[in-house]
This record gives sequence, structure tokens and C-alpha cells, in this order.
Amino acid sequence: MILLGIDTSCDDTSAACIKNDKVLSNIVFSQLFHSKYGGVMPELAARDHIKNISTIVQNAVKPVGLDKLDAIAVTYGPGLIGSLLVGLSFAKSLSASLKIPLYAVNHIEGHIFSLFINNNIKSQFLCLVVSGGHTELVLVKKGGDKYSKKLSYKTIGSTVDDAAGEAFDKVARMLGLGYPGGKAVEILAKKGNKKAVNFPRTDLKNYNFSFSGIKTAVLYYLKKNPQAKSEDVAASFQEAVVDSLVNQTLKAAAKLEVNNIGVVGGVIKNNRLRQKFTETAELNKIKVFFPKHEFSTDNAAMVALCARHHLENGKISPLTVRASSRAPLIDN
Ligand code: KG4
Ligand code: ZN
Repeated sequence: MILLGIDTSCDDTSAACIKNDKVLSNIVFSQLFHSKYGGVMPELAARDHIKNISTIVQNAVKPVGLDKLDAIAVTYGPGLIGSLLVGLSFAKSLSASLKIPLYAVNHIEGHIFSLFINNNIKSQFLCLVVSGGHTELVLVKKGGDKYSKKLSYKTIGSTVDDAAGEAFDKVARMLGLGYPGGKAVEILAKKGNKKAVNFPRTDLKNYNFSFSGIKTAVLYYLKKNPQAKSEDVAASFQEAVVDSLVNQTLKAAAKLEVNNIGVVGGVIKNNRLRQKFTETAELNKIKVFFPKHEFSTDNAAMVALCARHHLENGKISPLTVRASSRAPLIDN
């Protein structure tokens, strides 16, 4: 099955082509101009998607050609409504004009599928989705093979306030590092002492997360200590977020007796987070899986793979499918 995937959920215009489980192309055009505003400007994001989507799609289908496509995959939500509408409308018109099926993908489920591009996780696993918009802990049940027909989700925890990536972006702004801030914080943190400041860790009794306390603690610390070394603040903040994510996930894995963990979404580009997950999981005899870096942040290859799974199981979306900024991952 040859699929074109499209994702315009936030500030990346992405299109990808897959043939069965092989990624033939994966083009991501990041709208860097938002950095001058210190965050994503939704209306400008939508307009920029309109400007670029046609070229990005044309480049993505180059390895196969439009006439070879069997179906179109596209993100319908969650995300920024204007941005989602651009990708969804484009995908619908392509699907109608080429007379091929459309499958509309939930963006969170798409991130979960980013794991399957280079991993074969046989049994059920606990998936932590950590991005700019989400921090969710999902129990994914699956059967024997790579694209098992039995795949179900149960969201067991999520953030009660900010997403982890959002906290990185806000702290980056406090440190004058621009947007998006996660990568900049990580680079600065490498030069700092992670034990310099003891910022609070998420310690909720259930499997939820909270990052606004950590973010506010950084704000007050910087106000009280204007001479503080920014690299120490970055390293200490990063360590607090990493500890919170790792501790809550490992606690859930132990309670639910799950031996496999997957971590997906833009924040798993962070090498300290990967390292801590790997070390802690090993100590607890748990296997941990990550997507490749290129499939961690928003991309259309994961969206296409997710759609392929559903299309092969006989599902298609009607052309009346609507964009939804808050579309939840349907637990079943
Ligand atoms: O998955 P993604 O591309 O978009 C959403 O669906 O939100 O994730 C983007 C988020 C941003 O908040 C960005 O700051 C964060 O991922 N991020 C990182 C790193 N690279 C990207 N956070 C921490 N460390 C990084 N190296
Ligand atoms: Zn995302």
C-alpha cells in the first residue's frame, strides 16, 4: 500500500510517502519565523501552511508519483484549528480528485506510531507522549505482529497544567533563548550544573503530571537571583522535568506490571531524557523504545503509518470529517 501522509497540526508543514512500512520520503518544513514572536502565532501559521503545502506535497510524492497513491492520510486533530484545516482541506481535495480513500488520523495516535518506524514492540507497552502540546501516559495493548489488528488505548495519566514541551519553551523565554526553546535549553544545560538548584519534581499520587510549579519556581528563582548562571538554571530545570517524566512513567509501569515503555513526541529529542529513561528502565529490567530523532517531532510519516494500520483494518474516513482542535485519543 502506497500512502501520502500530511500533517499541519501546528507550525510544521509536513508530507511523507510510505510504501507498506517503508518511509520513502518525509519532508518537514518548520515555520521558523514564529521565533521572533516568542511562540506560535496561529493565524500566521495557517497562512504559511497555505503558502507551502502544495510544494511540500509535490516533493514528498516525487519518489512514486501521484498516480501510484493508494490512499491519503491526514491529521484532523488535536492541534491549531486553522493549521489543521489547511492540511485536511488539501487532503480531502486530493482524495476526491484522485478517487482514493482518505483516513483522518489523531495526532497523538500518530506520535505513538512513530515508534513502529524502527522498532518492533511485540507486547503491550506504556507510551509516554511528550510534546509541545501534550504530556500523556497511554497504555497501548497490542497482539503479536508489527501492525497487529488488536491495538487499543487507555489514557492513564496526563498533565494537569502545562505540557512538558510547553514548560521547556516558557523557561527558554525566561532565559532569553527564543522559540522553540527545548533544544536551546538542552544545549545551555550541557554547560551547567544540574544540582545547582533543587526545583520541585512532579509527585502526584496518580499517574498525572504537572509542570507549572517547576516553571513558576524557575521564574521566582530568576527574580530572586538575577546573577544566577543561566546554564545552571537550565540544567537544574531540565533535570526536574526529566525526573518527573521518568519517575511517573516508571511508577505506572511497576504498578501495571508492564515491561515495555515507549517515549514519543518532540521532547524525546532531549538526550538527557533519553539517557535517564534508558538507565532507569535498565535498572528496573524494563525495555524502553524511542523513535529516531527525525520522527520524534511532528512529521507526516508517522501519520501515514497510523492511517495504513486503520485502512488495512477496513476503516476509511468520510470526506465530511471535521478538524478538531481538542480531539482526544479515543480509548477503547
Ligand atoms: O511533537 P512536537 O514537534 O510538536 C507538538 O506536537 O507539540 O514537539 C515540539 C516540542 C516543543 O515544545 C519543543 O521545545 C520540544 O518539543 N523539544 C524539545 C527538544 N526538541 C524539541 N524539548 C526538550 N529538549 C529538546 N532537545
Ligand atoms: Zn506533535
